[in-house]
Amino acid sequence: MQDVLNEIARAMAAETERGKVADYIPELAHVDPQKFAISLATVEGARYSAGCATTPFSIQSISKVFTLTIALGKMGDALWSNVGREPSGDPFNSIVQLEHEGGKPRNPFINAGAIAVVDAIMMGHEPKETLAELLSFVRYIADDDSICFDHTVAASEMAHRDRNASLAHFMKAFGRLRHDVDKVLGTYFHQCAIAMSCQQLAHAGLFLASDGVNQPSNIRVVSPQRARRINSLMMMCGHYDASGEFAFRVGLPGKSGVGGGILAIAPGQGAIAVWSPGLDEYGNSLLGTKALEMFVQRTGWSVF
Ligand code: DON
Repeated sequence: MQDVLNEIARAMAAETERGKVADYIPELAHVDPQKFAISLATVEGARYSAGCATTPFSIQSISKVFTLTIALGKMGDALWSNVGREPSGDPFNSIVQLEHEGGKPRNPFINAGAIAVVDAIMMGHEPKETLAELLSFVRYIADDDSICFDHTVAASEMAHRDRNASLAHFMKAFGRLRHDVDKVLGTYFHQCAIAMSCQQLAHAGLFLASDGVNQPSNIRVVSPQRARRINSLMMMCGHYDASGEFAFRVGLPGKSGVGGGILAIAPGQGAIAVWSPGLDEYGNSLLGTKALEMFVQRTGWSVF
């Protein structure tokens, strides 16, 4: 397996078309587009990595998998009264469907949906308390207490929040958000600004590959049914309006972030994290997707 990851890292280093680093969050625009990392954590407890797999990067929308997990833990199926579970077919920051669908976001992974999920987990608490809970959950599933928020990235996003603020205010006008919009946004931006390396991310995602049980600690994080459902949402909605393309090319549940990371889950096998900061036109990592495509070709891992 180490040979496979080495081969992928070599092939990605040779790529000249590397996509475009996100610049609508100015702090992310400084990241070096040459960076590449891939890590695999298997359900048997093996760990493999290639590239700069210990370098932390902004996980951005990948964090939506973790807040969704917390929200389902807190409120179970009641979450679905305020958030849908259908692919949107629209860009991650689109507002159009909200108007015709009573302010209810299509799914928990588009920005509007993730903002509604944050509002759901706040439960009357202050942003600090919600963020402390989120960080301890992520540290727990990654088995690594060094994971932190990148406050500079969060501040950069807060300063350029117009688009997300529009989504949040629009939902609030429909009675979909219970908390103060700026508090919800501040919490959401910090959630997105969690910095993790590919090694940490692969470990954190392992419970989804393992029927809800964290490995190697053998501690249950969610029920098998919930793990399957989160995976199905990742498959259908994890890459926004390119989710179909990702399913077609890679065939694994995956969640991308505009920091250039992707977390992919091979149920029963392992969790794979990739990072290449350049994005495609849909806001998903260009080479990250290519690397995962190569990985499944070599391993044959697929849910199909
Ligand atoms: O709210 C935003 O726009 C970002 N914090 C997250 C968007 C994102 O990661 C989209 N994913 N590819």
